[in-house]
Amino acid sequence: MGQINCYIRTINNINIMGIYNRYMLYRMNYLTDFGGIYRRYKREQGRWDSHLNNTKQFIIDSAKDKNGTIVVLGSGWLLDFPVNQIINQFNRVVLYDIKHPAHVKKLAAKHSNLELVCADITGGMLERCFKLKQSQLKSDLFNIVSYLSSSKFTIDYHADYVVSLNILNQLDILLIDYLKQKGLKSDGQLLKLRKMIQEKHLEFLSGYNHAVITDVEEEWRSEDDEFLGVKPTLYADVSAYKEQKKWPWNFDSSMTYYDDKKVILNVTAFNGFATP
Ligand SMILES: C[S@@+](CC[C@H](N)C(=O)[O-])C[C@H]1O[C@@H](n2cnc3c(N)ncnc32)[C@H](O)[C@@H]1O
Repeated sequence: MGQINCYIRTINNINIMGIYNRYMLYRMNYLTDFGGIYRRYKREQGRWDSHLNNTKQFIIDSAKDKNGTIVVLGSGWLLDFPVNQIINQFNRVVLYDIKHPAHVKKLAAKHSNLELVCADITGGMLERCFKLKQSQLKSDLFNIVSYLSSSKFTIDYHADYVVSLNILNQLDILLIDYLKQKGLKSDGQLLKLRKMIQEKHLEFLSGYNHAVITDVEEEWRSEDDEFLGVKPTLYADVSAYKEQKKWPWNFDSSMTYYDDKKVILNVTAFNGFATP
């Protein structure tokens, strides 16, 4: 579990480890963003399907011949996860997110091998940022990277396979949006922070056989699909990864993410192996 305070609720005979601080998640925009993912998926009317199918197929292919316990980080609405196949294939399936929607709770009530954990996958950075005072963030002397660098996400059981499910850069984007809103200005510090958050996630994964599916670039298009530019969304070094697949995710064609351009996220999927 992450370092965040948790409690256990029992609903329909399933235990959900829960972040007690819904107020914090709300104030930090995590709950709005969570609902926003589903609303955008509906608004895009099928344009996400190839990305969702590519992600599911990558997981099916890379989890082939594996069994035991699988851990999924960033399960969310399970739009991009082949849940039925995986429930049948693995003895234990553990899903992590800050929240689990009703249909996922119902599924867990039906399958005794499906467990839901509400946790902060950054290992407690959310709570630390929430507790920061605005005056600290505005001070030139305050070093946000070293303040957060002792956070560590761990699990206290054996996992045979871990999937990082379109979450890698969500870990820094949401946190940094909050810090900017609270007053952190230094672009240099923000860049270092993005890199550190992503590297910590990859460091956790490196203890396990794993798959990472993540967008690596945000590409901008005009209304007529003319190329306008691109910016990176991946800051950690992934050169150690070998096998990979790439595809575009038609993330926002209705121009609601930015009001003057469409967004395509360029996604890469990697397989990684446990390092001793
Ligand atoms: C782009 S979504 C992934 C899509 C997701 N698999 C789905 O089908 O809805 C990223 C997910 O990461 C979760 N998330 C972001 N930051 C998190 C954190 N620090 N700890 C746990 N989950 C987090 C969000 O709640 C969201 O569900």
